[in-house]
Amino acid sequence: MAKSAARFVCQSCGAVHAKWSGRCEACGAWNSIVEEVQPAAQVRAVATGRKLALVGLEGEADPPPRRPLGLAELDRVLGGGLVPASAILVGGDPGIGKSTLMLQAAASLARGGGRAIYISGEESVDQLRMRARRLGLTDAAVELAAATGVQDILATLAAAGRGPGGAVSLLVIDSIQTMAHEALDSAPGSVAQVRASALELIRLAKSEGFALVLVGHVTKEGALAGPRVMEHMVDAVLYFEGERGHQFRILRAVKNRFGATDEIGVFEMTEQGLAEVANPSALFLAERRGNIAGSAVFAGLEGTRPVLMEIQALLSPNAGGSPRRSVLGWDGGRLGMLLAVLESRGGLRLSQHDVYLNVAGGLRITEPAADLAVAAAIASAAAGQPTDPSLAFFGEIGLSGEVRQVAQAEARLKEMAKLGFTAAAMPRRLGGGSRRPVAAPPGLALVEIGHVSDLLGRFRDRPAAAPGRKGEPALEGLE
Ligand code: TYD
Ligand code: MG
Repeated sequence: MAKSAARFVCQSCGAVHAKWSGRCEACGAWNSIVEEVQPAAQVRAVATGRKLALVGLEGEADPPPRRPLGLAELDRVLGGGLVPASAILVGGDPGIGKSTLMLQAAASLARGGGRAIYISGEESVDQLRMRARRLGLTDAAVELAAATGVQDILATLAAAGRGPGGAVSLLVIDSIQTMAHEALDSAPGSVAQVRASALELIRLAKSEGFALVLVGHVTKEGALAGPRVMEHMVDAVLYFEGERGHQFRILRAVKNRFGATDEIGVFEMTEQGLAEVANPSALFLAERRGNIAGSAVFAGLEGTRPVLMEIQALLSPNAGGSPRRSVLGWDGGRLGMLLAVLESRGGLRLSQHDVYLNVAGGLRITEPAADLAVAAAIASAAAGQPTDPSLAFFGEIGLSGEVRQVAQAEARLKEMAKLGFTAAAMPRRLGGGSRRPVAAPPGLALVEIGHVSDLLGRFRDRPAAAPGRKGEPALEGLE
């Protein structure tokens, strides 16, 4: 007879402990440990294992068959479309648009002739229909249900697959935190429930051959609540993110067994749902006003895609006390480092000023390649001179003030040329050896910047700045 064993599971990271404590030693979360009772593993007599056929590294590998959903931005992030018998986790903050995106995806697949089932544990069928009406999707033959019991879903899917409707291509579960497996006592949303429910559904997806999308909520701290334990069970993990109050939404692949990670899809929120943004740079730069000091265009890279975005800096005199450094969309620590470099290597004194930095449009940049554009925005704000509106920037800045190479320079340059920029401020081009110097696309002049002092000099040397006061390194207008 198997007897039940108690164990203590952290609801934040899934770590299992032998006894209860107030703080999880694995992830440091407080009050996250909950007792779970599970049947002790039964030891079964197992027949001797089967001998495996070991093979070499070389051989024919078929690319996985794919079914495009018909939403180009989503298909791109997936690596070309849905892979049959795969499981995808779509995470994001509540209210960010996960349900909307997945209902649109299911509808698009159904319109293309695929069979899509959408099961919601959060909304009633009436609410889903209302949403579909608002999004203009009522003509699509998506099959809906409101349910939270995993056994019911398993039974439904097993019957559906053999029914007259033909094989199911997509099952959306919205959300995994609302699902409950009858075999377990723990509450929906607990690690045990999430894991057991996900495991059953994934097993079914693999045996029936449909693609499974599990929607999951993210906690304030940015972790998938509970589903951290699920990340290794699924084939792909996508995050849907964006700033609330901004209309852009970005879908990011952080894991993908069937495609590239770091790929992004860009969407714009509208009354009619999520609209795809095929040319993000144009959108992110749409509200840029030329001739304002403190703005610089950064040629960034999101996944394999170059994206231009505007970086804004504002300096205001500090009334006393320690100066404020406030950042939206970039790393605060990196801004601190950059300000120190500008001060000690470029002579730009900012200690009397509060510095505000913002990436326009609610985007978030993680690349150090943004350093040069950030430095340009700050230098421009300090000098009270706009950057040249036909100029875009990229380059990393090191601690001695040197401007360093970054990846994919040519892709960035190409995007600048495409959007009508005529000059690129970038690191010195390295040639020699087997290295081919970066080539400029036609119509784009390259302004090579070796050191932050070259950048600051560009603002200082213009006639508008500090007439007649040579040898004064701090830019005018600050004091
Ligand atoms: P919803 O898809 O329900 O978010 P989630 O499933 O991630 O919690 O979207 C939240 C709200 O925003 C909902 O009231 C619908 C609205 N919305 C739009 O009006 N247009 C859009 O393009 C999106 C994505 C959402
Ligand atoms: Mg939802």
